[in-house]
Formats: sequence, structure tokens, C-alpha cells
Amino acid sequence: MKAADIKKITVLGGSGLIGSGWATFFLWKGFDVNIYDISDALLQTARERISASLSYLLAKNIITKESMQKALSKSFYTTDIGEGLRGVQFVQECAPEKYEPKQALVAAMDQYGLNEAIFASSTSGLLITEIAKNSQYPERCIGAHPYNPPHLIPLVEITKGEKTSEAVLQTAYEFFQAAGKEPIILQKEAPGFIANRLQIALYREAVDLVLRGVCTVEDVDKALCFGPGLRYALMGQNLIFQLGGGPFGLKGVMMHIGPSAEMWMNDMAAWKKWPAGCIDVLQEGVDKEMANRSAEEGKTNEEISRWRDDKLLSLLKLINKI
Ligand SMILES: NC(=O)c1ccc[n+]([C@@H]2O[C@H](COP(=O)([O-])OP(=O)(O)OC[C@H]3O[C@@H](n4cnc5c(N)ncnc54)[C@H](O)[C@@H]3O)[C@@H](O)[C@H]2O)c1
Repeated sequence: MKAADIKKITVLGGSGLIGSGWATFFLWKGFDVNIYDISDALLQTARERISASLSYLLAKNIITKESMQKALSKSFYTTDIGEGLRGVQFVQECAPEKYEPKQALVAAMDQYGLNEAIFASSTSGLLITEIAKNSQYPERCIGAHPYNPPHLIPLVEITKGEKTSEAVLQTAYEFFQAAGKEPIILQKEAPGFIANRLQIALYREAVDLVLRGVCTVEDVDKALCFGPGLRYALMGQNLIFQLGGGPFGLKGVMMHIGPSAEMWMNDMAAWKKWPAGCIDVLQEGVDKEMANRSAEEGKTNEEISRWRDDKLLSLLKLINKI
């Protein structure tokens, strides 16, 4: 199967945070989308979430009223897995982060004869080999890990299991790229993939700085957001160092701060378990940080999410990713 053959997609677990985001994205990009979840009440939640996300894109002039109507007309909601999988070429699985439901959904694809359709799990860190272990067709199972919110953030980390075929990986890569995503393929299985490992490496140090009393939760967030974070929207750490080294590029930076960085690394966090009591300290700190935000920036989760999405859209426009 080629990427261009993918016309109809199933989103499994379509009422969840990630499932409803993926469904929004695929509908927005013109695909027919079957949305499956395990109860009618959940399907109603899915309808509301998807409709709200598309309405938001309409309000922001990303889509027209006509394309929104068209997108809504291409959605089909069901609690019947057989019906949900009928006639699709691509399945984006967004069930809870446990092996059992994901393995059962792979088995359903086998049962309904979807031996060529690609099974793409949104898993944040489970192994594809394990998810696909009972499948008759493990070669068509991949991971396709989005970043929240999946309809706005371009990154998709594509992962493989031991038996995933290279042709399937390539098809998935071309499919996501053509749909407007920024896919990357992991050459090996690695728990946490790339972006979450980077995120947790950074967060361990952020937590440590707070616990050591070097700074508050609010200040460690400020240090990231108003410093490196601004550049991260434009380029990654390697390119940042390349530009920081003048005529010597990345080599220049490594010569300049490399030895000092080794000293810092000696002093940096290396713990493997979250220190006792750290969650309460962090929650208290983030509560204060939220209270200190301006009304325009939002003070509640809902207000801040809306503010984030507005700013994200501006950023995405700026870097031609929407
Ligand atoms: N939350 C995030 O930021 C994030 C980011 C990237 C990837 N993910 C991954 O996406 C997946 C879904 O996460 P989420 O945060 O959307 O969870 P969620 O709890 O919001 O959604 C899970 C959905 O799966 C449905 N579900 C439950 N049992 C099911 C079954 N047997 N078959 C099909 N659907 C079933 C639920 O009804 C619900 O709609 C997880 O694998 C998670 O690791 C989450």
C-alpha cells in the first residue's frame, strides 16, 4: 500500500484527549474518519470535542465554514468495532496506555481481515513488539506518537517493532508528511522515544534545581520559556550550538563550554526515582505560578490551554507549519 492509497482512517479511543485530537486532524485534512469508542456517552464526548476543535480552527480562519461542514460530514461514530474498522487503510489507536486494550485492538484488526491496513499506536512509550506480539500481521504495526494537542503540534515519532516492515514505516512516514506533519522514524525501539526522553532529562534537572533551593518552580519555568524555549520553536540544540560557535560552529561551542559542561554534569541530577515528596512541592509551586499569571495569559487550566493554543497557532503560522 502507498501513502496515497490511504483515504479512510479509524481512530480507536476517539473520545479521549489524543483520540479526539487525531480525529480532528484527519477530518481537517480531508480524510473519511471512523471514530470508535466503548460507549455511546463517550461517542457524544468525542462529537463535542471534535466539533469544538474544528470550530476553534474556523474561528481562527484556519478552515472555512464549508470545509468544516465537509469535515463533519466525513465523520462516522460507532461503538461496534467491526463497523469501525470497515474499509479503512489506516488505524490510529488511542486507547489507554496499557498493553491489554492495545493488543485486543490489534487482534480485532486480524479478526476483521485488515491484514494490510496500518495499525499505528499513539502509545507514549509501550513497545510495538509487545503490542503486536499476538498479531498474525505484526509487520503492519507501528507506533505513531503525537504531541498534545495532536491536531496542532507537527511532530509524530514513528516507531517500529521487531517485525515491522520497512515498507510500512516508509508508507506511514510519507502519509504523515503529506498530511502536514513532521514525522521522524526511530531506527531502534527506545522506551520514551526521543522527545519524551529529552523532556524528562530536562525535567529531572528542573525538579532538582527546585528541590536544592536554587530557584522556584516559577523561575525554572521562566528560565526555560524566556531563554532556550524561544529558540526551540525555531531550531534544535545542535543547530543552536552550531550558531553559537561563530566560524567554528558546533565544534567551537564544544571547545568553549565543553570542559565547563563536564563540571556541571558532575553536579547535575542523576537520580532514577522521583525524590520523596517532590510532587507536592512541584504542585504547590505551579499553583503559585498560575496565580501570578495575568488575566490575559489565563490562570486556570482551561484559560491557559486556550491562551497556549492561540499562541501556538501564531507560532505555527510564523514557521509555515499550518
Ligand atoms: N495525554 C497525552 O498528552 C498523550 C500524548 C501522546 C500520546 N498519548 C497516548 O495516547 C493514548 C491515549 O491517551 P489519552 O491521554 O488520550 O487517554 P484518554 O484516557 O483521554 O483516552 C483514552 C480513550 O480510550 C478509550 N478506551 C478505553 N478502553 C478502550 C478500549 N478497550 N478500546 C478502545 N478505546 C478504549 C477511552 O474511552 C478513551 O476515550 C495513550 O496510549 C497515551 O499514552 C497521550
